[in-house]
Amino acid sequence: MQHDANAPVVTIDGPGGSGKGTLSSLVAAELGWHLLDSGALYRIVAAMARRQAIDLTDEKSLVAMIPNLQIAFDGDRVDVNGDDLSDEIRTGEAGVAASQVAALPEVRDSILTLQKSFQRAPGLVADGRDMGTVVFPQAATKIFLDASAEVRANRRYKQLKNKGLSVNLRDLLEQIQERDARDRGRAVAPLKPAADALIIDSTQMTIEEVLQMIMAEVSKG
Ligand code: C5P
Repeated sequence: MQHDANAPVVTIDGPGGSGKGTLSSLVAAELGWHLLDSGALYRIVAAMARRQAIDLTDEKSLVAMIPNLQIAFDGDRVDVNGDDLSDEIRTGEAGVAASQVAALPEVRDSILTLQKSFQRAPGLVADGRDMGTVVFPQAATKIFLDASAEVRANRRYKQLKNKGLSVNLRDLLEQIQERDARDRGRAVAPLKPAADALIIDSTQMTIEEVLQMIMAEVSKG
């Protein structure tokens, strides 16, 4: 399918574990639109760097690697250069490594065009940290989802456990706090709500309640 710069976009930004991933999938399913999981792209870069023994601070080698990545998303499954990376990119360590490569300006730059290419008819739901501020600043609907770090760590814990992965709640909380600090404090595209975003604090809300709130915002256009 072709890139369509006029296709409508809903951006859903926020910190890890805020429920963005789940809600983005639900909103995309409800609208029948495409989905961009931009965090997966940073996770893939970090995982492939590890496989190729590239240091996570070696910006030049990381940037040279990116055009050679053949990425295929299929629901929850992610194949890269023919290998199934679905579980490998979802661990807490992979998230921390992703936030390290995501702090590098040239890495962000080389992923930018790839991200924009996901904008296709009939529409796109884009999940990330800078979807509303940098990648799709023209989006008609912008959501910024937040929740306390403890609640987010708990959600991640349940999510990973359900996938059968072995996890420790305290490690997850530390990883979330480490990533938050790096994502909010970095010089390029820091995690922050767009000026025109609707901010939703989901700490005390169910997924269904947040979904309704987002759909109401989408219908305003
Ligand atoms: O959303 P997810 O937890 O998969 O993101 C992993 C990491 O990728 C984040 O901690 C963040 O550093 C980075 N990221 C980013 N910009 C995005 C999406 C993710 O910097 N749009």
